[in-house]
Amino acid sequence: MGSPSAGVVLCFSHTMATLRPGGPKLVFLVGFMGAGKTSVARALGQKLGWSFEDLDDRIEAREGQPIHRIFETSGESGFRQAETAALRELLAETRPQPYVVALGGGAFAQAQNVDMIEQAAVPVIFLDGPPEELFQRCEAEQGKRPLQSDLDRFRDLYQQRRPAYLRAAHRVDTAGKDVDEVAMEVASCLGLL
Ligand code: S3P
Repeated sequence: MGSPSAGVVLCFSHTMATLRPGGPKLVFLVGFMGAGKTSVARALGQKLGWSFEDLDDRIEAREGQPIHRIFETSGESGFRQAETAALRELLAETRPQPYVVALGGGAFAQAQNVDMIEQAAVPVIFLDGPPEELFQRCEAEQGKRPLQSDLDRFRDLYQQRRPAYLRAAHRVDTAGKDVDEVAMEVASCLGLL
C-alpha cells in the first residue's frame, strides 16, 4: 500500500453487524489478492490487543504443505475443499480472547463458506482496491500465488468475485493507503475506535 492519505476515516456499511457486547469476538477480513488482508489483520490485532490468524496458514498446517503445492497436487478444487474444512474448524472453536482472521482471496467467493460465516453472524470487512494496484502489490511481494497470472486475467477474476465480496457488511477502500490507516478504518467500521 502507498503512503498515508488524508486522515479521513471512510467505511461503507450496509448492515449494523457489529460486535455484540460480551459475545464471542471474531472478525473476518476478505478481499482479493493483494488487498493487504494479512498485514491489516496483524496491525488490527496489535492495535486492539486481539490475536490474529491467516486462514491460509491454518490450511498449510492442516495439509502439511504450502498452498502452491496443494494446488499442484490437488488442483484448485482440492484447495477449496481444504479451505472450507479449515474454515469450518475455525468456526467451531471457542476462544477466550477476541481475534481477527484474514481469509484467502477466494474464500468469500465460495457460497458454502459465505453461508457458514453468515450463520455464525461474524462481522466481515471487505478490503477493496483497484485491481491494478492490487496486482502491483502482489508483484512487489513476489509471493507464490497460484492464481496470480497476467494483469488481464487478474482483473477479470477480481470483477468476477467482486459481487461476492460486496456481501460483506462493510467495505474499506485501501487505494493509496498504508496498512495502519486501513486498520484504523476497519476498527472504526466495527465501532472500536
Ligand atoms: C487465493 C488467494 C490466496 C490463497 C490461494 C488462493 C485466491 O490468498 O488463499 O492462493 O483464490 O484468490 P491471498 O488472498 O492471501 O493471497
